[in-house]
Amino acid sequence: MPGPTATPTPTSGDHLEIKDSRTGKSYTVPITDDTIRTADLRQIKVKDDDFGMMGYDPAFMNTASCRSAITYIDGDKGILRYRGYPIDQLAEKASFLEVAWLLRHGELPTQGQYDEFTHDITYHTYVHENIKQFMEGFRYDAHPMAMMTAGVAALSSFYPTAKNIHDPRERDIAFIRLLAKMPTIAAFAYRHVKGMPYVYPDNALSYPDNFLSMIARMSESRYEANPIYSRAIDVLFILHADHEQNCSTSAVRAVGSSHVDPYSAVAAGIAALYGPLHGGANEAVLRMLQEIGDVKNIPAFIEAVKSGKGESKLMGFGHRVYKSYDPRAKIVKGLCDEVLKVSGATQDMDIALELERIALSDEYFIKRKLYPNVDFYTGLIYRAMKFPTDYFTVLFAIARTAGWMAQWEEMLLDKEQKIARPRQIYTGPGERIYKSSLDYKHKISV
Ligand code: CMC
Repeated sequence: MPGPTATPTPTSGDHLEIKDSRTGKSYTVPITDDTIRTADLRQIKVKDDDFGMMGYDPAFMNTASCRSAITYIDGDKGILRYRGYPIDQLAEKASFLEVAWLLRHGELPTQGQYDEFTHDITYHTYVHENIKQFMEGFRYDAHPMAMMTAGVAALSSFYPTAKNIHDPRERDIAFIRLLAKMPTIAAFAYRHVKGMPYVYPDNALSYPDNFLSMIARMSESRYEANPIYSRAIDVLFILHADHEQNCSTSAVRAVGSSHVDPYSAVAAGIAALYGPLHGGANEAVLRMLQEIGDVKNIPAFIEAVKSGKGESKLMGFGHRVYKSYDPRAKIVKGLCDEVLKVSGATQDMDIALELERIALSDEYFIKRKLYPNVDFYTGLIYRAMKFPTDYFTVLFAIARTAGWMAQWEEMLLDKEQKIARPRQIYTGPGERIYKSSLDYKHKISV
């Protein structure tokens, strides 16, 4: 006999029928977009005063936290699209600033919009002189991602009106300022570690050319970047501009959901990106290649990975979402060849290619669907362009700022969103009586 039904079965539309074996009761839960709302599970209770059923999903492996119209990924088919446009078409034909506009506004810019946007970005690249002094405060060997996190968080204090997040003009200017100033702060971090004088932005240059100028210019009156390097930077920025609800974007959304200003929210994203399982992976790839040292050491290294000895993972392989191939990796591999034609081959590249060949034919990696991800090759490009290893993630952060800001604004304008606040399953002790045996100097007795 079926038990009582808590909510009427929907007369139209798909639904899930759930039977609770604890009570024998049946429930129906509507299905929309192949998804149920976990809040609908709350009606499932044993006793009336129960909290109700929750979904348990550590690391959000199977939980959608938002509806988003920005980036589409089909991990099994290796598809990545921004606002419907395939990543390979954007990487081949668009500029990073065009893509940044697209991510935020949903459509490609008109010529007029693009010109104005580029002009605005160009004229907001300067940072307050105090930011320069702020950067000076870091140790000579500070990790540039720590400097980026702090530098961007500090911007919040220079633009206090950015906290008026419900004012569209404030969001406009914050978007422009962040995209414009990230390369400047990043270049200052680079020059600080090198002990070189900071180079101010050059408003006559394109976005990637200006960035390379702030990195590399010495005494020349105008720095002319190699066009292959400049294009490589622009394409890598496009590839890294967004990747739907990854760790750092989720961090930006979660922190932003408290209605803090966007500089603070993006600083949280930079901190998340710093980790070796996320943006720090391309740095980890290069360190791994250095550790391998020679092609002849690869078989032993692979065995160590498979057996869990030494390095437990092959860095630059595997992805939470892509289980066939990472479409960005294919584009980056081609780009890598172009850059190496200019820079000359490196030993890292020989090791990387052999590592890739062996891993792609090894049962361990095939069975687990572990393919090279975007970071496997980006590190090689950045190395060929002579960027220091610990600087790679900074380049990723500049690019991802476009996606973070688009996602932050989408979250803000989404009427369904509230402050992010997951539930937990408490596993600690029940109530107990406090009784301390400690005796310490500042103990206050009442
Ligand atoms: N090398 C060796 N084994 C691996 C690797 C790897 N890179 N990645 C996953 N595995 C194994 C893992 O040990 C597990 O094996 P088993 O089933 O025997 O326990 C199986 O594959 C499934 O792994 P998982 O940890 O459940 O997969 P995940 O989806 O949680 O992790 C990942 C995804 C990217 C964190 C992971 O693959 C990884 O740590 N890769 C190396 C770091 C890396 O390259 N990260 C950059 C990701 S791309 C940039 C971005 O979008 O952020």
